[in-house]
Amino acid sequence: MNKVVIVTGAARGIGAATAKLLAGQGYAVCINYRKNREAAETVARAIEQAGGRAITAQADVSSEAEVATLFETTQAQLGRVTHLVNNAGILLTQSRLEEISVERFRQVLDVNVTGAFLCAKAFIRQAQGPGAIVNVSSGAAKSGSPFEYVDYAASKGAMDSMTRGLALELAARGLRVNGVRPGFIHTEMHADGGEPGRVERLAPQIPLQRGGTPEEIAQGIAWLLSEQASYVTGAFIDMAGGK
Ligand code: NAI
Repeated sequence: MNKVVIVTGAARGIGAATAKLLAGQGYAVCINYRKNREAAETVARAIEQAGGRAITAQADVSSEAEVATLFETTQAQLGRVTHLVNNAGILLTQSRLEEISVERFRQVLDVNVTGAFLCAKAFIRQAQGPGAIVNVSSGAAKSGSPFEYVDYAASKGAMDSMTRGLALELAARGLRVNGVRPGFIHTEMHADGGEPGRVERLAPQIPLQRGGTPEEIAQGIAWLLSEQASYVTGAFIDMAGGK
């Protein structure tokens, strides 16, 4: 079977690590990016140098038209999309709920929830089983991220509900849908929240006593996508060092 995967937000962090791992496992990979074309092309070059197949495609996942183009481009260049990783996500400056503007709240939901919804919808339209989706949620879905980003936590909670519902809608078609909930992972996202050293600060409170790496999260995503997880759907893997 020709395995073709789109990884959203794959120019850096968990998405980039996932794209590289999947390419090594024989997937043809579309590296979606929003703005950072150069970083996306660096990931694609690394995959090609390792003998894999990759393309890059710009799209803001919260735009239905751009998502449609993303899937058309991928299908034209790599073939029918068999797998999807909804990884793109944002969090904004650490704040209490009462300090979060309605514009910001909507922006976070628009990317994290509507983006995953639009990509799942575009995927389903053209998919024929077997295939799979993995949604990259967060431990925040369960913790609620008080004093930091309740908006982000709410978006990940919504993503988990969508994972469950969509898994049940698609099960009979041979399409599986699962989620991973990373905890504290060393990526540049924490700088976007205003605290680049957040993972180091919180490490002593993590049972495994350290933050995770993007490569460790990629392993969970890859397993859920794979045939080794053929009897797993509507499920979640907590990848948070015991938190
Ligand atoms: P990151 O910020 O490095 O990666 C997110 C990627 O999504 C970026 O490349 C960004 O440009 C892209 N993106 C943002 N908005 C987009 C849009 N509208 N369209 C297309 N792409 C867009 O952060 P990281 O840590 O690699 O995050 C990946 C996923 O993992 C996110 O969904 C995040 O919420 C989740 N996560 C991360 C954790 C961590 O500790 N780093 C913990 C729990 C979950």
